Amino acid sequence: MNTKILDPKDPNTLDTAADIIRGGGLLGIPTETVYGLGANGLDADAVLKIFEAKGRPQDNPLILHVAGMDQVENFCHDVPEQAWMLMKTFWPGPLTLILPAKDLVPRRTTAGLSTVGVRCPDNDMTRAIIRRAGVPIAAPSANLSGKPSPTTAQHVYHDMVGKIEAIVDGGPCRVGVESTIVDVTGERPRLLRPGGITPEQLRELLGELDIDKAVVGEISGDTVVRAPGMKYTHYTPSGDVIIVTGTGKQAAHYILRHLGPKDRVLCFQEEVELYPAGVAMAYGSEKQPETLAHGLFGALRDLDSKDIPTIYARCPSGGGVTYAVANRLKKAAGFHIVEGDKAP
Ligand code: TXA
Ligand code: MG
Repeated sequence: MNTKILDPKDPNTLDTAADIIRGGGLLGIPTETVYGLGANGLDADAVLKIFEAKGRPQDNPLILHVAGMDQVENFCHDVPEQAWMLMKTFWPGPLTLILPAKDLVPRRTTAGLSTVGVRCPDNDMTRAIIRRAGVPIAAPSANLSGKPSPTTAQHVYHDMVGKIEAIVDGGPCRVGVESTIVDVTGERPRLLRPGGITPEQLRELLGELDIDKAVVGEISGDTVVRAPGMKYTHYTPSGDVIIVTGTGKQAAHYILRHLGPKDRVLCFQEEVELYPAGVAMAYGSEKQPETLAHGLFGALRDLDSKDIPTIYARCPSGGGVTYAVANRLKKAAGFHIVEGDKAP
């Protein structure tokens, strides 16, 4: 299959893209978080192709992308008041809500669950494609399973060339990490995955928010988790990733004692100068956490392509979007964390 790159400014793109979705094909779609690998979310055969193209385990459900709040009750029932409040405040935007699914949503989309994740992406072109296609778009992140999510059309091309009909090139994604996921089907709202909408923003609106254990620590393969995707290895470059804590100087002191000739350091802009030339790569500024979110996956992909045995990484701490960045980096490291100020 010849994978086309579609320019959103081309007047034919909207129809071409909508036709691919309606015809049961696969389409790379831009969103404000990361690129999605989209198909008609109501067509079980089209959805199967997503799992095949990604190499994704079939027990990991997909998110349904809708064009607006007005479409939610086509696919979900018993939508609680809290969910409407969240949609009114944060949509279109990087927030996915877990809601009870109607029967027309195929079990292949929900991976057999009675609930479905819905999200309205903050990207005009993608919402227009959903409306034009007349169906919701089921889309996981458009990476090969286990690899960092794609934040440019070129990343999608790299992973999916020959496997999908086309990619709509919407430029680099604004946020850079996947959406925040909140389960609103239980007694209390529960954060299943941190993202661009922060726990502070959610608590301010909801007054309460539980944090799922999958967010805070490693979970073993047989643990029952609410967001099934959280139990798989994620975002992993081929080399080992080790997070080193402490101040910049403490971490550099530790890393420089252990650094092999082909190893590299993934750090904040402010710390690059602590390392010999060519060793350290910045993914953003510690003072501007949005830049870290924006740059993390691209940097992990760069390092993945270079055959590096060990990547020593610096992880930000704190709330806001920093919380999501730290969550992704810890997963990339398989929760391998060394205390730079104490370790020998
Ligand atoms: O920002 C995003 O959310 C991106 C863009 C493309 O929209 N999508 C994305 O999809 O990150 P994916 O498939 O890579 O991650 C979806 C996560 C998985 O961890 C999955 O297990 C969880 O959402 N999920 C989906 N449906 C669920 C459900 N019904 N209950 C619990 N978790 C669910
Ligand atoms: Mg993903």
